[in-house]
Amino acid sequence: MTEIHAASAAADVAAPASHRTPAAPTAPGDQWWRSAVIYQIYPRSFRDANGDGIGDLPGIIDGLPALAHLGVDAVWLSPFMTSPQRDAGYDVADYRDVDPIFGTLADYDRLVEVAHALGLRVIVDLVPNHSSSDHPWFQAALAAAPGSPERARYLFRDGRGPAGDEPPNNWESVFGGGAWTRVSEADGTPGQWYLHVFDSTQPDFDWTNPEVRAEFEDILRFWLDRGTDGFRVDVAHGMIKEEGLPDFVPNPSEGSMGGGEQDPPFFGQDGVHEIYRAWHRVLEEYDGERVLCAEAWVSPLSRMARWVRPDEMQQAFNFPYSGTDWDAAALRSVIDESLEAFGAVGAPSTWVLSNHDLVRHTTRLSLTAENPQGAGLGPRSVGIPEPDQALGRARAASTLMLALPGGAYLYQGEELGLPEVTDLPDEARQDPSFFRTNGERYGRDGCRVPLPWEATGAAFGFNDSGASWLPMPGDWGRYARSAQAGVEGSTLELYRTLLGLRREHGLAHADLVWHEDQEAGVLAFTVGAVTVVANTGSNPVSLPGYGSLVASSDPSVSDGAELLPPDVTVWLTGAA
Ligand code: NOJ
Ligand code: CA
Repeated sequence: MTEIHAASAAADVAAPASHRTPAAPTAPGDQWWRSAVIYQIYPRSFRDANGDGIGDLPGIIDGLPALAHLGVDAVWLSPFMTSPQRDAGYDVADYRDVDPIFGTLADYDRLVEVAHALGLRVIVDLVPNHSSSDHPWFQAALAAAPGSPERARYLFRDGRGPAGDEPPNNWESVFGGGAWTRVSEADGTPGQWYLHVFDSTQPDFDWTNPEVRAEFEDILRFWLDRGTDGFRVDVAHGMIKEEGLPDFVPNPSEGSMGGGEQDPPFFGQDGVHEIYRAWHRVLEEYDGERVLCAEAWVSPLSRMARWVRPDEMQQAFNFPYSGTDWDAAALRSVIDESLEAFGAVGAPSTWVLSNHDLVRHTTRLSLTAENPQGAGLGPRSVGIPEPDQALGRARAASTLMLALPGGAYLYQGEELGLPEVTDLPDEARQDPSFFRTNGERYGRDGCRVPLPWEATGAAFGFNDSGASWLPMPGDWGRYARSAQAGVEGSTLELYRTLLGLRREHGLAHADLVWHEDQEAGVLAFTVGAVTVVANTGSNPVSLPGYGSLVASSDPSVSDGAELLPPDVTVWLTGAA
C-alpha cells in the first residue's frame, strides 16, 4: 500500500459491524437518486430510426415509452457526442455536440423533453479523463512545440534513454500494450510521448491544468442548461496521476493493472476529489437535484465510498457487487459491506449486474471457467453455459438485486434475458482491446449486440433495413420485447413486476434485516414489508412460511410452494 492509500484508509469512516444495516436516510420522494432504478442505454445498439445499422437518438425517443412502461426512473445514455468512434464514443472530439451518426442537438433536446414528459430523468455519460485524438485541443498540441500551452492540456513528456526513444515510464494501457505513444515533431523528427491510459486515440488530459478544469465545468453547464439531470462520470478514479508519473511497481500478488487493493499510479489518486467537489457546486446552481455517478474502479468499498461523500458525487457503481459469484455467503458479505460503506458517508448503495463493459450476467453468473473483466467470450472460450439453462440463475440474481435498498442500474437487454453473444466472428469485432491484444482478449462486443424489439424481421425491429453494426444471432427474435410484453412469466414481465413492487413497498428506503440459520446456500432477508429468499445452492430447500408469495424468478414456483428449487429467488409479503 502506498502512502496515499494509507492516508485514504485512515480517513475512511469506520462503520459499526451489525447485522441490521441502515438504508438510505431520507424519506421517499426526497433525493430521487437514492431509490432510482436507472436504465443504461447503449445508443449504438438500442434502436435505429434511420436504418443505417447504428442506433440513434430518434430511435431512443421511439423506445422511451417502453422504458416508462417497464417502470424505471431514469435513463443513462452512453456517449453520443461527436467522436470518431474508436472506442464506441468514449473518445470525444467535441463535448458540446451530438455525433451525426446519432443525430443532432435538436434530437437531444427532444429526447429530454419526451423523457421528462414520461417521468424519466436523463443522465449523460461524460468522459473527462481523455479526449479523442481528433479533438481540436489534441490536434493543436500535436502542431505546437514541446513545452507549449497547447501541449500542457495533455500529458506530453520526453522519452527516456539517450535518444528519448523509450517511453517516459512503464505504464500499460488498460486495453493492452504500452500507455505512451511517440509523436513526430513539426520538423518530422521523432519527438515527445503522450500518455493514453486507454487506446492511443484517447490521450489523457492533464487535470492539474486549470484550463482543463474550467473547460469541463463549462461542458457540465452546457448539458445542465439543456435539462440534463446528471452525469455518469467515466474513469472517475483516473483523472489525477501520481506526481512525477513514477513507474508502477506492482505488489507481487497483483497484476500489471493493479485491480486489487493496490492502484497503479494513474488510478485512485486523492486529487480527484477536489474536482468532484467543484462539480458538486456547479450542479447545486441548478434546480431539480442533478446528480453525478462515479465509474470508479477502486476497492475496497469503504474506499469507493469516498467518491460519494456529501460534497462530492451522489452515486458510485457498486462493481464489487457485480463481481460477486452467485453464492449466498459471498452475496451476504458484499451486501453488508456495501450498505455499511456507503451508509457511513450518508450515501445510498447502488447495485449493478451488467453494463457495456461486462459479460452479460445471464452468461457470466453460470460461467464455469475464469473470465477476467474485459476478456470477453468467443469461439476459443471454455465453460460457456447454454443460455436457456443459465437464464434461471440470472433471473434469480436480478430478483435479489431489485429488492436491495438504494439505487439500481439495469443494462439494456437484461430485462429481456439476453445472453452474451459468444460467437461473433473476428472480422465483426470492434472493441479496441481485441486489436490491441492481437485477439487474445475478445473484449466487450458480445454484450453490445443490438436489441431485438420484434420477433421477426431482418434486424428484429432494431430497424427496418436489416443493417446492424454487430451481427445479431439468428434466434434473437425469441428474446424480442414484443414476444415478451404481456406474457406471464417472461423475463420482461418479471422485471416489470419487481420494479412495481419495489416502488409500491418503498424497498429502496427500507432497512434490511437478515434471517439467520438458513440452510447452506440460502439467503433470506426482510426489507420493509417484503421477505426475500434466494437459493444459490444446488438442491431444493424448504421454503419457510414467510408469507404470501408476490414474485418469483421462476414462474413454476407459485404461492403455497413448499420447496424453493436451486437458482430461484422469491419475494413474500405478510410475514408469518
Ligand atoms: C469506461 C467505459 O465504460 C469503457 O467502455 C471505456 O472503454 C473506458 N472507460 C474508456 O473511456
Ligand atoms: Ca442510425
